[in-house]
Amino acid sequence: MKISEGEAREMLLDERFPRSSAYDPEWVLSNQMGPNALWLTESLCERMTLTPGMRVLDMGCGAAMSSIFLAKEYGVRVWANDLWISAEDNHKRIVEAGVEDLVTPVRAEAHSLLYERAFFDAVISVDSFHYYGTSDTYLGYFTNFLKPGAQIGIAIPGLIRDFEGDLPAYLTEKDENGHSFWDPKEHWSFHTADWWRNHWEHTDIVDVEYAAPMKDGWEVWLRFDDAVVAAAIPMAVHGPPNLTGNALRADHGEYLALVEIIARVKE
Ligand SMILES: C[S@@+](CC[C@H](N)C(=O)[O-])C[C@H]1O[C@@H](n2cnc3c(N)ncnc32)[C@H](O)[C@@H]1O
Repeated sequence: MKISEGEAREMLLDERFPRSSAYDPEWVLSNQMGPNALWLTESLCERMTLTPGMRVLDMGCGAAMSSIFLAKEYGVRVWANDLWISAEDNHKRIVEAGVEDLVTPVRAEAHSLLYERAFFDAVISVDSFHYYGTSDTYLGYFTNFLKPGAQIGIAIPGLIRDFEGDLPAYLTEKDENGHSFWDPKEHWSFHTADWWRNHWEHTDIVDVEYAAPMKDGWEVWLRFDDAVVAAAIPMAVHGPPNLTGNALRADHGEYLALVEIIARVKE
């Protein structure tokens, strides 16, 4: 890490996320794979009901930081499900964090889940659901594994409002290495909170309890990205992080957002 622990702690301090602030900033920065997984998880949990012993699916957990956080903070049992990160890698981190009794790492693709039907009491998913969850049939498949009444909380990059006409140039312009922030193969999965509300509500499978952009979400996202750049942490997922920072600065909350959706499977 290219900055001191004190500098990193300062950059990651946010009174909105008191639980996250207690975690080692080097651990948070070196396991990051997107906007701070702890902040997004803490934010969702504020609006959800998690009680010790519940079975929680952490869908697309990446390096399992959110899973470790859920176990430590709420005493829930977590299935840390990811595709890109192996169960072995996550198991090491889970053991180091001392929560192996509560967290089970699983490597599984989102359409090939082998859990029992109606197994989970809740789902948390941060910076992940948009990769596989936008099809019309995914919610129906996914909720097979949830109990009636289970809550689903997702926090993902998205939009404040839909684009009118062409994409803003600052999202598509290329840097000196020929990279742009907006990857047309991926970023059309960014949607507004209302899009997600409608996408889920009209299925009649869930009741949407909350769907909104996080307050000042672009600044939250930018602050973490700035810390990643300052610490010179390699970005595992999205190429050079300054691309994200530049796009967020230029956009200034016009379109880019972190959106949160919480729903409950109908009884
Ligand atoms: C941007 S990373 C975020 C990881 C972690 N939640 C975080 O916030 O640090 C997206 C995660 O979604 C997972 N993912 C993407 N597509 C998936 C799929 N088809 N099935 C299961 N997981 C998937 C990846 O394995 C990856 O770890």
